Amino acid sequence: MDCCKMSHQLPHHVSIPGELYPSRVITVSGIVPHKAKRFYINLCTDTDIAFHFNPRFDENTVVRNTEIQGVWGTEERSLPFNMPFRQGHSFTVVITCEDDCYSVSVDGQPLLEYAYCLKDLWATVHLEVGGHLELSKVSV
Ligand code: GAL
Repeated sequence: MDCCKMSHQLPHHVSIPGELYPSRVITVSGIVPHKAKRFYINLCTDTDIAFHFNPRFDENTVVRNTEIQGVWGTEERSLPFNMPFRQGHSFTVVITCEDDCYSVSVDGQPLLEYAYCLKDLWATVHLEVGGHLELSKVSV
């Protein structure tokens, strides 16, 4: 598994070594700037975004979606509790590949699941992190 301290260049692209499969875990840690509007964590194939995880402070939610051939699907926006990300605070997002979905926890608390729209987990080859955040650490 790959684990490294990040430079602060954004968007940041990280190749996913080996293939994704159920039980694999991806961790992203960072700090949200005080005036941040949005940032994103994308799990990408060569052509598509299998999982777009998009905290939006301007809308006070976390948008999730999939983009296939340049076309976004239907957004998922509901949260089980208040927005877990806060401007001016650090965070750790853990994305676990399950059999049928990604499950996401933030700061150790389970937040949501996102069913695979693209079924071929192995086709996800890189992680992209960008937008308004200071990236501290990524491990895949
Ligand atoms: C769009 C936005 C994209 C992405 C997408 C998700 O409105 O421009 O960056 O977040 O929503 O559905």
